[in-house]
Amino acid sequence: MLLEVSGLDVRYGRTQALRQASLSVAPGETVGVIGETGSGKSTLARAIVGLVRPHRGRIVVAGEDLTRYRPGQWRSLRRRGVVQYVFQDPLRSLDPDLPVEQSIVEPLLIRGRSPREAAARARELAARVHLDEELLSRLPGELSGGQRQRVTVARALVTDPRVIILDEPVSALDAANRVRALEFFNELRDAGTSLVFISHDLGSVAGVADRIAVLYQGEIVETGQARAVVNAPRHPYTRLLVGSAPTLRSAAASRAQREELRELLKTIGGPA
Ligand SMILES: Nc1ncnc2c1ncn2[C@@H]1O[C@H](COP(=O)(O)OP(=O)(O)OP(=O)(O)O)[C@@H](O)[C@H]1O
Ligand SMILES: [Mg+2]
Repeated sequence: MLLEVSGLDVRYGRTQALRQASLSVAPGETVGVIGETGSGKSTLARAIVGLVRPHRGRIVVAGEDLTRYRPGQWRSLRRRGVVQYVFQDPLRSLDPDLPVEQSIVEPLLIRGRSPREAAARARELAARVHLDEELLSRLPGELSGGQRQRVTVARALVTDPRVIILDEPVSALDAANRVRALEFFNELRDAGTSLVFISHDLGSVAGVADRIAVLYQGEIVETGQARAVVNAPRHPYTRLLVGSAPTLRSAAASRAQREELRELLKTIGGPA
């Protein structure tokens, strides 16, 4: 396993945000984490990248046990870019006074790459995430929510991470852009990057995940192959989720829908 989280407890004062949470991600796999608001999804992500300290449990990434890391070591891990976290709120995670290009290439400049090389990489990444190159010189506040989200994904990609944790990456997008984004995440996965895809929307998760973990009130109550979780949910909360997504009969159906939408996008033009 590339990422292995086991028995994780996280508390904020008296709030127990995570209880005995375990999750594993294989190389080149997308694991969807689904749960309602406040269920602990972002907390799980933050613990994995060392932004909150678990009270108990283990986090192992690429064979390295991060549990006993000191803050400085976390910084070094983030700099090496093995695991990247795309924040739920792109506006808060970008420096408001810095043109987005600078935010994207900062890790390269820290590593001593030339500004010229960094600029070329920024353009390459912009193309990869379907962000218009001209937008690179803008400040975060001058972009739409969807454009900002692409910027934060480009920034996560700059270090060629092995795992990317995407926290609600499609929640700000309209239907057509959501389909494009899901396609993009599938391409990323096919190119070998492992993804943890966090969302409260089962339809989006079913469109990308190989496996799904269901988080409910701080506990992972169900984990399984995406198709099995959608077709035969075991936990009452998962049943509720599946039941309230009437168009979602199976992961296969959702893939077929995406095919259909992709065809539609081709006919209306724009990057698919
Ligand atoms: N910094 C914090 N201090 C205190 N409590 C917090 C903090 N961050 C989160 N919590 C609490 O921990 C619980 C889990 O929060 P978390 O942000 O992980 O949820 P989430 O599943 O990501 O929700 P959402 O879907 O709304 O993003 C919530 O009850 C929340 O109020
Ligand atoms: Mg969250």
